[in-house]
Amino acid sequence: MNVSKEVQIEQKVDALLKLMTLEEKIGQMSQIRHFEESADEHITEKLIGSIIHTEGPTPGKTALDWQKRFTELQKKALATRLGIPLLFAVDAVHGQNTYEGATIFPHNIGLGATQNEELVEKIASITALESQATGFNWVFSPCIAIPFNEKWGRVYEAFSESTELTEKLTKASVKGHQGNLSDPTTVMATAKHFIGDGATDFGVEGGETSLDSKQIQNRLLAPYKIAVKENIGAVMASFNTVSGISMHAHKALITDTLKVGMNFDGIVVSDWKGYSRFGENDIINAGIDVIMAVDGDLEDFQDGLKAGVENKTVKMSRIDDAVKRILRQKFRLGLFENPFPEASLISKIGIKEHRDIARQAVRESLVLLKNEKNVLPLSKEIKKIVVVGEHANSSGLQSGGWTIHWQGTKENYKGATTILDGIKKQAKGQVVYDKDATKKYFDADIAIIVVGELPYAEFFGDIDHESNQLKLTLTETHQKYIKTYQEKGIKTVVVLVSGRPLVVTDEIAQSDAFIAAWLLGSEGDGVAEVLFGDFNFSGKLPHSWPKGIKDYQSKYGPNFWDNTKEPLFKFGYGLKY
Ligand code: BGC
Repeated sequence: MNVSKEVQIEQKVDALLKLMTLEEKIGQMSQIRHFEESADEHITEKLIGSIIHTEGPTPGKTALDWQKRFTELQKKALATRLGIPLLFAVDAVHGQNTYEGATIFPHNIGLGATQNEELVEKIASITALESQATGFNWVFSPCIAIPFNEKWGRVYEAFSESTELTEKLTKASVKGHQGNLSDPTTVMATAKHFIGDGATDFGVEGGETSLDSKQIQNRLLAPYKIAVKENIGAVMASFNTVSGISMHAHKALITDTLKVGMNFDGIVVSDWKGYSRFGENDIINAGIDVIMAVDGDLEDFQDGLKAGVENKTVKMSRIDDAVKRILRQKFRLGLFENPFPEASLISKIGIKEHRDIARQAVRESLVLLKNEKNVLPLSKEIKKIVVVGEHANSSGLQSGGWTIHWQGTKENYKGATTILDGIKKQAKGQVVYDKDATKKYFDADIAIIVVGELPYAEFFGDIDHESNQLKLTLTETHQKYIKTYQEKGIKTVVVLVSGRPLVVTDEIAQSDAFIAAWLLGSEGDGVAEVLFGDFNFSGKLPHSWPKGIKDYQSKYGPNFWDNTKEPLFKFGYGLKY
């Protein structure tokens, strides 16, 4: 950081703060959605400080429309008494995944398998650029959870069960997203969710994290320390409780540990409807600075906080601390000088150079778990190949949650290639497609069978969640795809598309080669480049791989902290051919 610039920023922050009324301060702490009823008036009347874009109507059709919409809102903010610019935030968690046509990278679990920090830094910088190109200056990424139990529906959002690997990739991700922050191609990043999101008992999203403070210190806090050292702009509070206390209201962890202990001078942002869900002004007193005041929360938050200040249950110094943090980041981002998105960046969305990096990430994320009798690499001269399974022919299915939509999509989306596309490009012989293993292409020389999970996000992905039927095993239908071809004596190469390790011990035994491909993103054709020998496998397991369902009877899965269970494959396992 440039010290004299920082001194100047602090002076500007103090000077601006002195001019602000309580309403203007509370306004800065408020975040709303751009498409909510009265959003436009709220910017002027409720003096909003930031805008979030997530599931819901998009700001327009083209990237230019998106930029125009945000420019229009920004102009409204600039026309208020103090003219403080807005922050525009987006859940760009594997590329600018809310914009169809952007480059979409493998989810973090796949990046964990690459163990490649230069690659992760490049990916983050492309994500930042494509986010800016669609009008955003803030992303809610990276998720730096350390998942303890694969039953959790957000395992794939995190790099790894290894704290050390997560530290390394966190550093790269923050650097790549933020650069020097004030550059028009960089964004403010958010480390999330603080803290214990992935370490809840039995992997329940928003459940109880019963680790003691020493375990939290040793296993979970280290990546945050790195993120803060790299000047991360924001940290998002988590939905879970720690020892029975809601994390949003956990003053000891948010204020004492993160803000004071780690010297974090950026923004702590609440998660979805944090104010009404987790204790209203208690969460402000605990240290939350920006409130996602969505879905009807705005007035309750603004009125409630004002009342809290007036009746002295919230100190003015706490409000001032929050607002200083928000203004500081706005100055660091250079928003007062450059409040509008750059139209020239639009032509960079989804370009070949970006997709080449995404394809490299796909290749490097693949983990080879079995390769009997060297069935891989496949010869390009094979006479007939049958490709089986709907996941082989759908860029939506191969990408998982947080792709175009919050819960992902089962459809193909713009600009993406599928696994089948890649196989067709590589193979010189005949390639036939059997979506559901009913076509009986038993004269094929090789069957490439692509199976896995359907897209999900957040609690929808929790195993055992009452609203879903998810299991840690393959569906019977997918098990049958493998059996159908294997029983006919055809060599089978299984590609598993999933957001976490699954219990597939029997399917691994039945197949000749088995690959964990995680959630690939838009460049599905990268898989074939490794299957057909243009590149060797280099991915290493970012999680210990379970042997059986029994491994999940206790609080945690077979993660490498827990020596009581012997995994099928250890963390770091991965073959080459
Ligand atoms: C998720 C966050 C996300 C936020 C905004 C929440 O439900 O937990 O990770 O950033 O929504 O979309």
